[in-house]
Amino acid sequence: MVKTREWVSTLEVWNPHELSVEDRALLAEAHVAASKAYAPYSEFYVGGAVRLADGNIVRGSNQENMAYPSGMCGERVAVFAAGAQHPGVTMMAVAIVSPSEKAISEAFMPCGGCRQVLVEAERRQGSPIRVLLQVRDEEVAISSSAVNLVPFAFEAFGLGGTGTNGREG
Ligand code: THU
Repeated sequence: MVKTREWVSTLEVWNPHELSVEDRALLAEAHVAASKAYAPYSEFYVGGAVRLADGNIVRGSNQENMAYPSGMCGERVAVFAAGAQHPGVTMMAVAIVSPSEKAISEAFMPCGGCRQVLVEAERRQGSPIRVLLQVRDEEVAISSSAVNLVPFAFEAFGLGGTGTNGREG
């Protein structure tokens, strides 16, 4: 019998009107951010808003470039901006949204690179970052941590961890 390793990932799905005032405010900030995206090539607008432990909120949006790979995802702009402007302040939550009609998943599903960046942010600070995901005004998917979104995440350099890389069975 071959050994296996499993990853179980669970998201909560919320009616946006039933969320806390704090969560709704963070989503609203992410939508403001998305409205400021620079995405003339894809016309796919993404906004991110990071809520810090000191109450500050840092926004980011996708920034494209005619040399396509030079662009950057919205949530990564937000997380990197938070790290650059408020170094050492714990990130409590990040809301990631798209108002775009092109967004077809049930909630916004961040790309693998952004998930990896979020995982490292939470490993670095030693506490989980809640991730709130929404397209348009639809139901909100919530992950209690970023690592929950990254099965078998890349780990190296001993940054510590907030999760386990799968369970052996
Ligand atoms: N994009 C994001 O901002 N976040 C993601 O997680 C995936 C994709 C952006 C990159 C590009 O500007 C546009 O969406 C289309 O891929």
